[in-house]
Amino acid sequence: MIASAPGKIILFGEHAVVYGRHALVSAINKRCRVKVKKAGDFRIKSRLGVTGLDFETHPYVSFAIKRFDEVADVKGADIEIESEIPIGSGLGSSAAVIVATLKALSAEFGVDLNNEEIFEIAKKVEIDVQGRASGIDPFIATYGGAWLFPERRRVDVPFSFFVVNLGEKSTAEMVSKVAELKNRHPEVVEKIFDAIDLISLEASRNMGDVEFVNELIALNQSLLRAIGVSTPEIDELIARFERGGLVAKITGAGGGGCVFGIYTGKKPEGSMIVECETEGVRVEEE
Ligand code: PMV
Repeated sequence: MIASAPGKIILFGEHAVVYGRHALVSAINKRCRVKVKKAGDFRIKSRLGVTGLDFETHPYVSFAIKRFDEVADVKGADIEIESEIPIGSGLGSSAAVIVATLKALSAEFGVDLNNEEIFEIAKKVEIDVQGRASGIDPFIATYGGAWLFPERRRVDVPFSFFVVNLGEKSTAEMVSKVAELKNRHPEVVEKIFDAIDLISLEASRNMGDVEFVNELIALNQSLLRAIGVSTPEIDELIARFERGGLVAKITGAGGGGCVFGIYTGKKPEGSMIVECETEGVRVEEE
């Protein structure tokens, strides 16, 4: 069986969401496809290599199998992963591979898991690997669409986006960098989170207005820079965009990763265009 799940971009609210503020997140039309076939032993094949059950090279898939084994007895499986989502750059590749693996396993082994069950297992897998996670990524990979968190309200996002990938970054490192800044300047940083919270809320209410949303993108980026998750490379790229009349911000943890903006017909060099994706995890083929 083959199943696929989408990646995501965080439109507004990263970091602030870790401290209970709102975030607006959309699935994107870049998917991870996982093929699962019953076998005598485990074999996992991806662009990271070919391994057995391997918690170092393929931690997300291996933990997904381990968690799935709690609901169905799995003796072995041949697993092949193909992903259009760049790894480690904030576009939700890890959650997409977990969710697609769980869906393909459930289809291949005849275990009926609904979306909420897939989401709950995927959240556990994310925590197995990362130790701590907000659960937003597995939610988006499972359900698709664009949502305001934490209340899970659907938002209509009528745009496409350009996305530039500046390479892998560490979410854990950036989250602890923000935590340290917050320890040193608690009141200032809390106020910045409050402002980001309002930005996510305002965006969720005015998504149809490109000019208004672009102002919020610029504001959110300035605040991300203020909490230290931008880099000189990101700042320079955004300044170059500004000179060309484009507005952009970090999506995800920052410190590298991806920068995005609303696509209105001007495609920046080296960028990819992504659409919002309404469909979450699905079985592709018998
Ligand atoms: O870069 P990503 O996709 O790992 O996003 C991180 C988003 C944070 O708000 C920084 C952390 C979180 O768990 O929400």
